[in-house]
Amino acid sequence: MAIKYGRPIESRVRVVPAEAKDRAQPAPSLDLATRPRRNRRAEWARRMVRENVLTTNDLIWPMFVAEGRRAPVASMPGVERLPIGDIVRAAEQAAKLTIPCIALFPYTDPNLRDDDGSEALNPDNLVCQAIRAIKKEVPGIGVLCDVALDPYTSHGHDGLMHEGTILNDETVAVLVKQALVQAEAGCDVIAPSDMMDGRVGAIRQGLDAAGFTDVQIMAYTAKYASAFYGPFRDAVGSSATLTGDKRTYQMDPGNSDEALREAELDIAEGADMIMVKPGLPYLDILARIKDAFGLPTFAYQVSGEYAMIMAAAQNGWLDGDKAMIETLTAFKRAGADGVLTYFAPRVAEKLLKS
Ligand code: PBG
Repeated sequence: MAIKYGRPIESRVRVVPAEAKDRAQPAPSLDLATRPRRNRRAEWARRMVRENVLTTNDLIWPMFVAEGRRAPVASMPGVERLPIGDIVRAAEQAAKLTIPCIALFPYTDPNLRDDDGSEALNPDNLVCQAIRAIKKEVPGIGVLCDVALDPYTSHGHDGLMHEGTILNDETVAVLVKQALVQAEAGCDVIAPSDMMDGRVGAIRQGLDAAGFTDVQIMAYTAKYASAFYGPFRDAVGSSATLTGDKRTYQMDPGNSDEALREAELDIAEGADMIMVKPGLPYLDILARIKDAFGLPTFAYQVSGEYAMIMAAAQNGWLDGDKAMIETLTAFKRAGADGVLTYFAPRVAEKLLKS
């Protein structure tokens, strides 16, 4: 048999002088039983053998809620902070586009931010108002909310800080209350993004004790201390407030086994779904977690990933739509059951048209 993997192609091909009369001659046929290109020769064939296909069911659309009028986020072209009325319209648009779920993030008035992030516990804060409005007007769409204190603290950290240290257990107690406030407002999926130890279990217990046994938890399981969150922090206003970095609670980008241990803990504590974040630079982590546990596993194509593609596209350096589809398909291929992405409305429109 003539399948000779790894043999340099040059040694098998007789070099033909590139003259017109020679080019017309039929080239000697390679003795190949298998020609992978056969399955790629036409669009119908490529469609027929495609292993992973992106659909609108794979999308979670993150949105920024703010007081006042719509305002663009400079580092995220095409993304705006939206007042409640516009958030409801965006939720309607999501439903029309058959996007199953949206994720809400608040831009909190700087005057309402304090050391303890107490606005997070206000049942009338922006996120809670938005949840109630969406649940009233667009009851069929899933609403996911972050649990973490960074949009509410004066220091921009996800937890309570004491003399420069982020306190774990004290923070978890507050996060449980934040989760309850959001569940009471009608949130469907609680997504702890803070990376404190033990928060999933504590939130699960708190929800159950208050009768919210049906509220799901999507844990930010492997959330890395990443430079790719920069534009998000502009959007929620925490780049201005953040002192230092988040490396004492978010994961070290050099680690992989540790992500499996985090997943084991979150699952044991009651997580219904788990997430890896950022997305593209951590596809290996996504694949390992999905393979090891088989839970519904999500990727977050974060703000910096979105910004990179948009910036390059705006400069004419690459085709933005193609890069969007390619990256989102890559998440599926790596094992994601869905992706949080700022491209959600744009890609959904494209998918529904094709
Ligand atoms: C807050 C939070 C962050 C993101 C989601 N939730 C930022 C951070 O941890 O600093 C990042 C999302 C993005 O970059 O798109 N805990």
